[in-house]
Amino acid sequence: MAQLAERPVANTPRVGKPGDPCVMVIFGAAGDLTARLLLPALYNLARAGLLPKEFAVLGVARAQMSDEDFRKKIREDVKEYCGECIEDSSWESFAQRFYYLTGNFNDDNLYPQVKDRLAKIDHDHSTHQNFFYYLATAPSFFGRIVEKIAALGLMDQGNNHWRRVVIEKPFGHDLESAKVLNQQLLKLADEKQIYRIDHYLGKETVQNIMAFRFANGIFEPVWNRRYIDHVQISVAETVGVEGRGSYFDHAGTLRDMVPNHIMQLISLTAMEPPISFDANAVRDEQAKILHAIQPMSDQEVLTRTVRGQYGEGTAAGERVPAYRAEADVPPDSRTETFVAMKLLIDNWRWADVPFYLRTGKRMPVRNTHIVIQFRRAPFVLFRDTSVEHLMPNQLVLHIQPEEGISLQFAAKVPGPVMRLGTVDMNFEYQQYFGKQPSTGYERLLHDCMIGDQTLFQRADMVEAGWSVVDPVLNVWTALPPRNFPNYPAGAWGPKEADDLMEHDGRHWRNFEQ
Ligand code: BG6
Repeated sequence: MAQLAERPVANTPRVGKPGDPCVMVIFGAAGDLTARLLLPALYNLARAGLLPKEFAVLGVARAQMSDEDFRKKIREDVKEYCGECIEDSSWESFAQRFYYLTGNFNDDNLYPQVKDRLAKIDHDHSTHQNFFYYLATAPSFFGRIVEKIAALGLMDQGNNHWRRVVIEKPFGHDLESAKVLNQQLLKLADEKQIYRIDHYLGKETVQNIMAFRFANGIFEPVWNRRYIDHVQISVAETVGVEGRGSYFDHAGTLRDMVPNHIMQLISLTAMEPPISFDANAVRDEQAKILHAIQPMSDQEVLTRTVRGQYGEGTAAGERVPAYRAEADVPPDSRTETFVAMKLLIDNWRWADVPFYLRTGKRMPVRNTHIVIQFRRAPFVLFRDTSVEHLMPNQLVLHIQPEEGISLQFAAKVPGPVMRLGTVDMNFEYQQYFGKQPSTGYERLLHDCMIGDQTLFQRADMVEAGWSVVDPVLNVWTALPPRNFPNYPAGAWGPKEADDLMEHDGRHWRNFEQ
């Protein structure tokens, strides 16, 4: 295997200024997202010196807790999910910035209490009335919470202070509901105040797609239909539905993964170079790609999409139950846990270059990667090497868990006769930059504090993502699947997913670890 030249590890610390003074209000502060991701991310930001000195958190949730109970809980949570030991010396000053308010989001009396607490915290921590509200709640509360805080003037901005709201997915469950949600929010706040999070954009390797494409001179000239045969995007997960059966059975993999995470990967891979790294310049180019994805006709949905549901099988060497046997899933559920499809992008750069994508639960490995497969050399000189054994050049962007980039190319096998083999040149993030503790939310939270919306989805992008998915949802709903479950847990999806590519004379690249 070809290797890059040995280099000392460049352990580059994250550079940047701390965010603006502010209070973060977390609605849903006793929940899983807060414990697993938000709190560890805040702690990592504090350790990296990127949290402003004037910073506080007001947690709001139904669970009964005092400020002290909340501080104890966050210590447990950070310890459990941060993966790093808490530094006792810095913990106290971190924890003292956390406050808690018990309340039900449906109760109108809660919101004036939020306002009172915020006024006091703002005064005590000199946070200049800059507030951002993180809605770590069920989507049914999004509109209501923003409406209530806006009615109390808590979304009003001034010359010297800002107000922002951060919303987690799902943004609607189809195009129509996404539009309704956007309209509702945009009546209460300006687009510049709305931060729609897609946690895939917090991943270093996802951000690196832009760096790789636009900071290097050698890739962009070949990044088009003349040189690229096709693109494959795989987001494989080993987990099942992990106690989220009731949410997942209503959503399914198509809604859960495609209009959001996978559309981000497609748009970053396919977009034109933006004129600057200004938030709207980047998002304009991403949005253009999403709009250029050819909407499928009903007939195309039948031939260019595949859905699957896992049956009983093996994951990580253990027997695991079928999807239909998971908690909160009906025994005759027709919800898909796997999706594959072929998309085409109607523009000059990508005309006739298929983008194949697949994502599923209970696959053999956890692996997200993007394969850019180049066209074969036009003429093969090596007559004695059977051409079908020569693999085409593939550039692979490894998103997770391995983070890096590899390039596959042909090389001479050493020896007296001319024989060709396929080799890989690998770049691994960790080898060059070391490992930084990260949940992926650090960058996104910091961006909220400095007002950078580049990595957040704009209303039109969300709607464009749903426009791609809606025709598929419509056909799938009209024609329920009859063959579920159609792949065993621990497999790369149903056979039809392989057929989708093989029909075009192509193959998925499976990474086994
Ligand atoms: C979430 C989905 O948005 O992304 C989950 O709701 C999925 O079903 C998760 O498991 C995947 O994220 P990651 O970061 O583990 O790839």
